[in-house]
Amino acid sequence: MRVVMLGTGYVGLVSGVCFSDFGHDVVCVDKDPNKIEKLLNGEIPIYEPGLDRLLDQNVKAGRLSFTLDLKEAAKGADAVFIAVGTPTRRGDGGADLTYVFAAAEEIANTFDNGVTVVLKSTVPVGTNRAVRDHIKKTNPNFEFYMASNPEFLREGAAIEDFMRPDRVVVGCDSEEAEYTLRQLYRPLYLRETPMLFTTFETAEIIKYAANAFLATKITFINEIADLCEKVDADVQQVAKGIGLDGRVGSKFLHAGPGYGGSCFPKDTLALAKTAQENKAPVTIVESVIKANDNRKVKMAEKVIASCGGSVEGKKIGILGVTFKPNTDDMRDAPSLVILPTLMERGATVVAYDPEGRREAEHMMPGVNWADDAYDVAQDADAIVVITEWNQFRALDLERLKGMMKSPLLVDLRNIYDPNIVAEKGFSYVPIGKPARMLPDAQPVDA
Ligand code: UGA
Repeated sequence: MRVVMLGTGYVGLVSGVCFSDFGHDVVCVDKDPNKIEKLLNGEIPIYEPGLDRLLDQNVKAGRLSFTLDLKEAAKGADAVFIAVGTPTRRGDGGADLTYVFAAAEEIANTFDNGVTVVLKSTVPVGTNRAVRDHIKKTNPNFEFYMASNPEFLREGAAIEDFMRPDRVVVGCDSEEAEYTLRQLYRPLYLRETPMLFTTFETAEIIKYAANAFLATKITFINEIADLCEKVDADVQQVAKGIGLDGRVGSKFLHAGPGYGGSCFPKDTLALAKTAQENKAPVTIVESVIKANDNRKVKMAEKVIASCGGSVEGKKIGILGVTFKPNTDDMRDAPSLVILPTLMERGATVVAYDPEGRREAEHMMPGVNWADDAYDVAQDADAIVVITEWNQFRALDLERLKGMMKSPLLVDLRNIYDPNIVAEKGFSYVPIGKPARMLPDAQPVDA
């Protein structure tokens, strides 16, 4: 099949590359000449493990190309995907659909009859129908089929998620659109990946409800972690104990500094807004949003408490600033609240992140940047793990301790074994389980 991907952001690029790997002919189109030039040179504007190799292979195989020229790309296309951004609208938390409607207008004026228009961007309920109406109004003679195809990719694991998804969801109301989508996902269909065909509205809600549910699960375990700290229980064992119940499931029960990224914060807000507008408020999701925002501030307080109640004049080493590992994405990362708060309270902050520095540098002026994990330890009063990059999991604790002013490790991702850290002579403050402090380093209550 011939596929056009409109938008080479995260979703567009990953989907475009993966569809070409399925054997389809894919043209990715973007308005940004810089992006297209980079892609034509084989450079990837985002950090996603494995994407560069896959892109290169498919470009070489002649199945994948990049262009600014939509007219040229449109010729003979079976499907065109809208994969443009839907940022949070300033002021009211709703999704800004300007780019989606602009893309719809361009499609109406460029593509041949018979094409299937697939909306992949995350959009509020009613948008697929509204986009279809908008295309019809823009060009009443244009004959096309509409489909909603929300994506469930995780940054850092996007290729695996695309190639081996738990399910594919399609909202459509024509046999033609269903046929096209089945052909596009044929390799998965043959592998018996469940494909759910439903209405536009149901597909739209599935996407938001999935993200809101996962955000709720994380927030739930984060609050249970707070309780565990107060009563000397261990949240990791609690998560295991409840996760073994098949009805609960063990995934997304890792307590941490709060969820971030480009999806959960934006999508929970947009869902809450849609629900309010429809007079069916999702009060649980509203609480989740509040609890998660508060959590990031609380994490800064936790670090300060672990340092004995003040970080004035102290040097704090930070390991990891991205919202999660294997990405350079800083959007809504907990570090964006934690680091500035520590600096406001008089700390000197030295941070290291394997991929995030370029993005983070301009977002957090005043932070000193180190070249590796050990550099942050020099004369530090504490080290704080904010993102669980694999390379932080097995640091040489003796070496760290030798460099630090005082051996305090605050582990906001629970990547260390408290016994081992304590044995090495550290004070250790994890999430949701008892802290192990050296006799002369008592934390104050956060
Ligand atoms: C999320 C969903 O997982 C994807 O299915 C979805 O397609 C995507 O949003 C989207 O809507 O585009 P992503 O934002 O890439 O993917 O990252 P996640 O792996 O879901 O992590 C989100 C945040 O939750 C991170 O800050 C992570 O550290 C945090 N998290 C996750 C936890 O604190 N605990 C967990 O157990 C899991």
